[in-house]
Amino acid sequence: MKFHAIFSANNTESSSIYDNAIVIIIDVLRASTTVCAALFHGAKKIIPCISRAQAFDIFNKLSPSVKRNFILCGEQQSIMPEGFDMGNSPLEYSSNKVRGKSIVLVTTNGTKAFHKANQAVHKVVGSFVNEAIVTDFTLNAIRNGNIDKIITVCAGSNGEISIEDLLCAGMFIDNIAFALNQSELTDAARIARDFYTCNINHINQIIARSDHANTLRSKGFAADIAFAISMNKCSILPLIANDNTIYPTDI
Ligand code: MLT
Repeated sequence: MKFHAIFSANNTESSSIYDNAIVIIIDVLRASTTVCAALFHGAKKIIPCISRAQAFDIFNKLSPSVKRNFILCGEQQSIMPEGFDMGNSPLEYSSNKVRGKSIVLVTTNGTKAFHKANQAVHKVVGSFVNEAIVTDFTLNAIRNGNIDKIITVCAGSNGEISIEDLLCAGMFIDNIAFALNQSELTDAARIARDFYTCNINHINQIIARSDHANTLRSKGFAADIAFAISMNKCSILPLIANDNTIYPTDI
């Protein structure tokens, strides 16, 4: 099994690298974590958008009776944009707000990353909060055949690498490669895996000092950071369908 890692949603890799691949798309702070929290608390589906214009367009075209079951959510510079119903804090996505609802979500980097890798066999949203279920799903899918690559895609931040996404990618690569007898890692996958294994006892401290954690703290979202690093808090498998809608899926 081959492992590869992409470090930013803006990376311009060839789409053919995703042939026969399972892709784990990661935006720890906060889009992946928010998707997990929303689906774990009963949201029906999530429609990730690549721009606020697209989100408004999708939302405003819904008929009033359908719109009642939709929520317009997301962030711009980490804050809920004007005219939206909810922001991008995973802690906002409680059952009483999201159960049975469909969510139109737009964030700066994460929802763009969810649109990548359309040639993959499976695309799944991964974070620390759903590590075990994503790892199990990946191992089962490998056993069922047709897969020769695992690729982690980090959202990063405006084209730059994010340390929290790199650590999370390294965790998935390390856990999945460990469970398989043979694995072949590209340099990028080794950077992620080795950075994770070398820092395994300091993950929380490293993430707490990350650029985006500092931004979130300065905007009053410190609790989101603690939530995002809580392992397996939301045991949910968010699978991204061919049209990029994200559904909760039974393993
Ligand atoms: C993103 O997509 O860049 C984020 O999830 C940012 C955030 O919510 O602060």
